[in-house]
Amino acid sequence: MTPIRRLSDIDVSGKRVFIRADLNVPQDDAGRITEDTRIRASLPGIRDALARGAAVMVTSHLGRPTEGALRPEDSLAPVAERMSALLGRPVPLVRDWVDGGAWHAALKPGDLVLLENCRANKGEKKDDDALARKMAALADVYVNDAFGTAHRAEATTHGIARHAKVACAGPLMAAELDALGRALANPRRPLVAIVAGSKVSTKLTVLEALAAKVDTLIVGGGIANTFILAAGGRIGQSLAEPGLIGAAKAILDRWPGKVPVPVDAVVAKRFAADAPATLKAIENLDEDDRILDLGPTSVAVLKMVIAKAGTIVWNGPVGVFEFDAFAGGTRAIAHAIASSGAFSIAGGGDTIAAIHKFGIEDRIGYISTAGGAFLEFLEGKSLPAVAALEARA
Ligand code: 3PG
Repeated sequence: MTPIRRLSDIDVSGKRVFIRADLNVPQDDAGRITEDTRIRASLPGIRDALARGAAVMVTSHLGRPTEGALRPEDSLAPVAERMSALLGRPVPLVRDWVDGGAWHAALKPGDLVLLENCRANKGEKKDDDALARKMAALADVYVNDAFGTAHRAEATTHGIARHAKVACAGPLMAAELDALGRALANPRRPLVAIVAGSKVSTKLTVLEALAAKVDTLIVGGGIANTFILAAGGRIGQSLAEPGLIGAAKAILDRWPGKVPVPVDAVVAKRFAADAPATLKAIENLDEDDRILDLGPTSVAVLKMVIAKAGTIVWNGPVGVFEFDAFAGGTRAIAHAIASSGAFSIAGGGDTIAAIHKFGIEDRIGYISTAGGAFLEFLEGKSLPAVAALEARA
């Protein structure tokens, strides 16, 4: 990776600093924040700029609003409130901020404002150059601390970096790039990747890219079901993508032995927390069985692989860990990662939820705040927001 400038290298005293954060947090139906890791993770950059005498503007997207029409549910108001509680100071929320105005003229060193959902601005998603220019003009220093959105070429993640007087990475962006780079660029071997979740289709390119790089590629969830079919096994009524059996088979054939295919499973007749769980060998599955978790023989093989790993990359739970009867596989994998001497890195919303459920957050080397960007990084793709910072280095 080309080196990029970091906020810590820049003198921000007396300057206006515009921070693009990823404050896209999950909310319940009433708009209450259900998980605030991304807000907490953005605070070090904000605190650092404030402590060094900057006037700080922070923005983020929240959800995928229609541009030009900010609905109440698109508002960053709950984020401003949470940030204010965490920082112990008011965090005013500014609407219609692109052209500056009185709020901007009044900003002085030590001030902090949150700028409303940047994806509600017309032109944001298309990376509109005129919008990017206007936003760049609001600040002396542009800081991208939104690793979670680094795979999007939008006006606040990409175009603005071209026009800003100074463009740099915030501490979260820098930490994410350092950790992921360490896991993939020159990993301690064996390198083990765990890619699980419901669909092969959303992760096929990651699976293909990782198969080439890693020593063992562990698949789980619906993804594993497609691999079981590709290996000639039975899955009953389990979730799978028959159209991708060929792609899964190509991976198995090209890298023999690299992708352990499950040999047993915890199955049920229904997808429900209270459905009776039965342990079966894959060859004994009935037509109406659904695989909801890995079985103990499969888990034992994976635990051995994980115990010997030098580096582990984890994205996706291997079973329906939200239901206690089907959480055993994910729990065992989580504990195996936590107890291994490997440098481990985990990312993705479901994975983070599993890490919290099993209480192993302190025993993972690095937990990424990103979902899609994490996968694209694993895939080896260039992330547009990072490329934009590299171009200004
Ligand atoms: C995420 O939640 O993965 C990021 O905030 C990016 O969101 P997006 O997929 O709506 O661009």
